[in-house]
Amino acid sequence: MVKIAIIGGTGVYDPSILHNVHTVDITTPYGEVSCQVGEFENKKIAFIPRHGSQHSIAPHLINYRANIWALKKIGVESILATTAVGSLNVAMKPGDFVLVDQFLDFTKSRINTFYEGGERGVVHVDVTEPYCPSLRKKLVEAGKSLGFAVHNKGVYVCAEGPRFETPAEISMFKQMGGDLVGMTNVPEVVLAREAEICYSTISMVTNFAAGISQTPLTHAEVVEAMRKNTQHIKQLVMTAIQLLDTEKDCGCRHALAEYGGFKL
Ligand code: HPA
Repeated sequence: MVKIAIIGGTGVYDPSILHNVHTVDITTPYGEVSCQVGEFENKKIAFIPRHGSQHSIAPHLINYRANIWALKKIGVESILATTAVGSLNVAMKPGDFVLVDQFLDFTKSRINTFYEGGERGVVHVDVTEPYCPSLRKKLVEAGKSLGFAVHNKGVYVCAEGPRFETPAEISMFKQMGGDLVGMTNVPEVVLAREAEICYSTISMVTNFAAGISQTPLTHAEVVEAMRKNTQHIKQLVMTAIQLLDTEKDCGCRHALAEYGGFKL
């Protein structure tokens, strides 16, 4: 069984940390997903680059449901995702890692559930703690042991993209309590919860958000900031994976108990 998966965001496109990597094609009701499966410290790990290996899939067009379904189908119980983010909070600087614990959803066009009525019915999943607290704890421990600047919590604002935000939007998000802005965590985190998979995100601050930054934003600056930190993000993820006890149960895996559990 492949119990752990990494979903790589902007700047994290290859599973070079894994050994014996092979491609696995998985059929889902939402389309085919091709993922890489490899090994690390005797643990089997799946890897999906969210934007495709060449950053060709825009945030609003990512097949989030297919990705999460595919990971569930091969047995994944824990997902560590990476995301590049802009910061609204002066304490969270470019180069810092943030283990987000809440989100504000400003997406507009995305299907954010596996349950659209019909045969599957309708569910209302609890997201009081949207990000798995035990996975976050492992990441905090990993960050400490590596001596990285890691913020233990933060509010992630998910914008629709693919454009960056206006300074007025950033000012609004800030007043609402947002710390970071990105384009991909919703619906990924919500679908993982519906699928009863533990999910955590390592957000890497690549820039101050529009209007806070002194210069207009470019995708190149985001990619360059990620490139500088790729080694650190990989170390953080892999150290957390080393610390993970794959035998331990978690409340996230029973999120739909009220509905008889998630069914593929
Ligand atoms: N806004 C939205 N998404 C982002 C940003 C940003 O400023 N930086 C990296 N991803």
